[in-house]
Parts: sequence; C-alpha cells; structure tokens
Amino acid sequence: MQEETDSGQAVMRAIVYTRYGPPEVLRMVEVAVPEPRAHEVLVKIHATSVTAADCIMRRGVPAWGRLILGLRKPRRRFRILGSEYSGEVLAVGANVSRFAPGDAVYGFSGFSAAAYAEYKCVPEDASIALKPGNLSFKQAAVAVDGATSAWFFLRDLGNVQPGQRVLIIGASGSLGSYAVQLARYLGAEVAGVCSGANAELVRSLGAQRVIDYAREDFTVDREHYDCIFDAVGKSSFARCRSALKPEGIYLPTVGLHNSVLARWTRLRGGKRVLAGMSIHKQEQLDLLRPLFEAGELEVVIDREYPLEQIAAAHAYVDTGRKRGNVVITVARPATAEQELASAMLDSAQALQS
Ligand SMILES: NC(=O)c1ccc[n+]([C@@H]2O[C@H](COP(=O)([O-])OP(=O)(O)OC[C@H]3O[C@@H](n4cnc5c(N)ncnc54)[C@H](OP(=O)(O)O)[C@@H]3O)[C@@H](O)[C@H]2O)c1
Repeated sequence: MQEETDSGQAVMRAIVYTRYGPPEVLRMVEVAVPEPRAHEVLVKIHATSVTAADCIMRRGVPAWGRLILGLRKPRRRFRILGSEYSGEVLAVGANVSRFAPGDAVYGFSGFSAAAYAEYKCVPEDASIALKPGNLSFKQAAVAVDGATSAWFFLRDLGNVQPGQRVLIIGASGSLGSYAVQLARYLGAEVAGVCSGANAELVRSLGAQRVIDYAREDFTVDREHYDCIFDAVGKSSFARCRSALKPEGIYLPTVGLHNSVLARWTRLRGGKRVLAGMSIHKQEQLDLLRPLFEAGELEVVIDREYPLEQIAAAHAYVDTGRKRGNVVITVARPATAEQELASAMLDSAQALQS
C-alpha cells in the first residue's frame, strides 16, 4: 500500500461513502493525513465502532438527517463516517493546553464523524477526554456514545433519583446496556425490556426484573414507573402512558414528533415526554471516566471487525440485533506503521524548511 503522495505528503487509510445506501457504499481509500491547526490535537485512532446512528447516516434515512449531511449525497466534509473512537494523541497545535503527545483519549465526533480513518484532528474543546485507565482501546472506543447518551437521558433530562422505578426498553443495546447500569448506579429499581435471548445479559448488568417483549406486555401488567426510557424507538408515549406513575416521564431517543409531544405535555402537566439530543459530551466523558475506573460501568462488546471489514460490521448492525456494541479495530501492520511515521516526519521537516 502506498504510504505517501507524489508530493511526499503522508497518507492514511480511511472509509468513505459518496452516496447513501447499503453497507456496500462504504469503500476503503487513501487520503492525506490531516494536519492539526493551532487549537487541535492529532489523534492516531486505535479503535472506533459501528453505532445504530452511523447506519442511519450511511442510509440517509430518515431523510431529515440529509438537511445536515447533504440532500442528494453526503457532502464532502461528511464523507468519512465513524462517530466514536479511542486512540493516542500524536501531536498538538501551538495553542493546545489540555492534551499532550502520548495521551490516551476517547471521544465523540457526532455528525462530523471521520473516525473510520487512521488519524483524525480534533479541537481540544470538542467531545474528547482522557481514556479511562482500566479500559483497553477497544473497550474505550465503545464507552462513548452509548454511555454518555444514557447518562444524558437518565441524569440530565430525567433526573432519576434513588428509589425511583425505571423501565428501560432496548436494555440489551448500546444505550440500553449502559442505561441499566447507570440507573442502578443512580439508585433506581430497574426493569429491562429485551428478547429472551438477552435476558441473562440484562440481568447481569443489574436489572432486577427482565421483561421478554415476545411474551409479556409491560403496558398491561399493572406495574407503574417513574421513568420509561425507550432507547431503541420501539414504543410510543401513547402506549406507555398507562405504565407511568401520575408524574412519570417518558424518555425517547428517537422520533422528531417526540419533541412536539415534549412541548405539549409540558404545558399540560402530569405525565410528560422529555426529548433531546446529547451532542457536546466532554463533560460527560470526564464524569464517566471514574465510573468506568471504579468498575461501576461495564462495556458490553458483541463483535469486533477490522477496518477492512467495515461493510460486514454495518450489515450486522443493520439487523437491529446487536448486543451492546460493535468495535472496529484500526491497527495497521507494524512495518506499514513505521513507513507511515517516516513519511509524516519527512512532510513535517519539509514544512519547516
Ligand atoms: N437522542 C440522542 O441523543 C441519541 C444518542 C445516541 C443514539 N440515539 C439513537 O438511539 C437508538 C438506539 O441506539 P443503540 O445503539 O442503543 O441501538 P442498538 O444497540 O442497535 O439496539 C439493538 C438492541 O435493540 C434490541 N431490540 C430490538 N427490538 C426490540 C424491542 N422491540 N424491544 C426491546 N428491545 C429491542 C435488540 O435486542 P433483541 O435482539 O433482544 O431484540 C438489540 O440488543 C438509535 O436509533 C440511535 O440513533 C439517540
């Protein structure tokens, strides 16, 4: 594989998509290694992931996402997917003070993505933080979006309190597996909804009750909850109302209509919908690091694929059946690594002379 352009610029492997569609739209190409600006760090990515949101961005469905990503095809600056990552800081810009070369980090890049690549530049004030020391790079890469989003919904939006009863729908997915653990950490009594195949996993994460959605209907079993968190968009406020306590809250992660319902139910009082999006995650990453390090939070990894097999990983996540998280490893063979490092050194020296 070529390691530098004709002009001597270092290149890296990256996965791009130039049209919306099935996993096959993802292609591996070589692109220039980005150079950090004054306020940025250059991260050598060790691992990334395939999230349900990455698949939505790849498909371009639901279509409202295209208002940001590009109406007919992904805009050039969004062509590398990959929204969470872990890695090592290789270089820092002149004005960077929070990070130094050698720091192990984990982070989230949301719509600007670009983690399906060997290197990535990140502003130091973006959603990036020091990696939990006890997690491997593979674990840390998937300790980002699911964990911070679950925290955002349960703690920041839902204000879950000790002793409250919390129901989590989709308890075996990425957000759900963290939500079960975080709700327990916050002192709640937790019930998880999943298929029978995942019941043991959800119980092992701390759920005191597990509801197999193929056999039981929680909306008619006379149990009432302070909070129902639907991590996977498989319910509705209308359906869940009867299972909420009089002041209970419904927390959906998907569905634009839920933002409208949130406004309406706030005006009406009583049972409410609280909807939102967790975008800036630096504070949450810093908050969650000690929880991982103390063993309060466990990372559930379902499958692992190398970057070359990203299409297969997307096809698997498209099934909607992943348990916890799917990791993508971005390592390259040691000899290729040395060649790339020397090409980068050459281009840095060329810039200085
Ligand atoms: N608003 C925000 O800020 C925000 C942030 C992050 C993500 N999200 C969104 O949140 C959603 C969920 O993400 P995720 O990564 O947690 O999903 P995921 O990991 O892909 O969810 C897969 C899990 O869903 C379970 N599942 C499927 N059908 C179910 C049903 N009827 N009832 C209960 N569980 C069911 C599956 O378990 P079984 O195989 O056992 O059925 C599987 O374990 C995505 O749409 C994502 O875009 C929103």
